Amino acid sequence: MGKVTDDRGPVRPRSGSRRRGAGAEAPNGSRLSPSWLTVLQDVTRASNEALSLHDAVRHALRRISGHGGWGFAQSYLLGGAGAGVLLPFESWLEPAFPAFRHLRTAIRTMRFRRGQGLPGGILESGEPVLIAGPDRCSPALARIARDAGVASMTAFPVLVGTQTVGVLEFYADRVVEPEPALAELYRHVGTQLGRVVERVQFQEEFASAIGEEQRELGQELHDGIGQQLAGLELMCRSLIESLYGRKAALAAAHKVSDGIHAVSQKVSALAHGLYPVAVDAEGLGPALRNLAESTTIAHGIECVFVNERASCAPESRVATQMVRIAQEAVTNAVRHAKAGRIAVSLHCAANVLTLDVTDDGIGVPDPPREGKGLGLRIMRNRAASVGATLSIARAPQGGTRVVCSVLCGDGE
Ligand SMILES: Nc1ncnc2c1ncn2[C@@H]1O[C@H](COP(=O)(O)OP(=O)(O)OP(=O)(O)O)[C@@H](O)[C@H]1O
Ligand SMILES: [Mg+2]
Repeated sequence: MGKVTDDRGPVRPRSGSRRRGAGAEAPNGSRLSPSWLTVLQDVTRASNEALSLHDAVRHALRRISGHGGWGFAQSYLLGGAGAGVLLPFESWLEPAFPAFRHLRTAIRTMRFRRGQGLPGGILESGEPVLIAGPDRCSPALARIARDAGVASMTAFPVLVGTQTVGVLEFYADRVVEPEPALAELYRHVGTQLGRVVERVQFQEEFASAIGEEQRELGQELHDGIGQQLAGLELMCRSLIESLYGRKAALAAAHKVSDGIHAVSQKVSALAHGLYPVAVDAEGLGPALRNLAESTTIAHGIECVFVNERASCAPESRVATQMVRIAQEAVTNAVRHAKAGRIAVSLHCAANVLTLDVTDDGIGVPDPPREGKGLGLRIMRNRAASVGATLSIARAPQGGTRVVCSVLCGDGE
């Protein structure tokens, strides 16, 4: 990152910002003040630990706004499948700046192409802007920004390597004199957040690769093994007819036929479980109910579903991952728990949608050991890929409890 732009001309350092002493050297020789260094360390730590890109970005917006005196902060990510359009992502409104509320609402519906407004300009240049006035907003936003009392803005890119994948933008109701060394902070924060973007992309690709394998396996089970079993069952029925009157042989043939039928049911349930049907908000409850019913049929373990979801409407990708997580949790309960009962429930409170899968079996080792199994790892990746939290622990009353929670709606 080289050039730093200041729309009002050369950047004027804040008095005292050239002080020598503790601090990181910026490219132009100035230093980040120790308090900004603390912000940087905090944002870096939060980015490394964040379970989701939402958490990492929200934290960065909040810390930088709070410390820099900006009242409102908005982030954008590249979206639209390579269309090169910046879409609004997380935002942060300082409680003391209610006047910016309207601005936030307006930005939510906006899109910025290369060169459009401040975010689009940064997408084009890949350079931070230390200070700009509201005239730098796109025409649609400039009037709203002025009405809200915006006097200055600052913004910088989120970078993966040298590629801009997002923008963080900050608004103030006064002219915030920029420290030139802030360019250094922006570069670090932009790169840290870029790493989180990369991590999330990897998790999504990972989940999609696993989904593809499961799809193939599900298809093979259904079309290959399932069809062969169906054929064997038919052959067995005709054998039974030909054995009429031969009691012992007939009993044995009945046993074989019943066995094939049971295996066929299990294969069918497995195939359905593996085949990745995308689920939307409406489909989430029925998919979980279907999972519970087919588990009871295929494995003879009581599996109930309680749907207490009131108003939450998760995005399709969230609903799909929730179903997948429930499938693995139920499969684990069937395979490992020696459970007599499995309860799957879905409820929503204060905009948090929670999936709960609890069994009454022997309980997971505490702490859970992933070992050679993939299931727990994949569940965690699935949850992280949609910004959900996941806990897998022994239930207080015995057995295992898997809880997956995700913010539903805009989380205000
Ligand atoms: N509900 C449960 N009750 C008891 N133990 C469990 C439960 N869920 C998981 N475990 C334990 O945790 C281990 C890891 O689970 P994980 O799903 O990662 O792997 P797996 O089920 O053994 O194999 P895979 O999921 O890759 O087919 C299991 O082998 C089991 O010992
Ligand atoms: Mg498993």
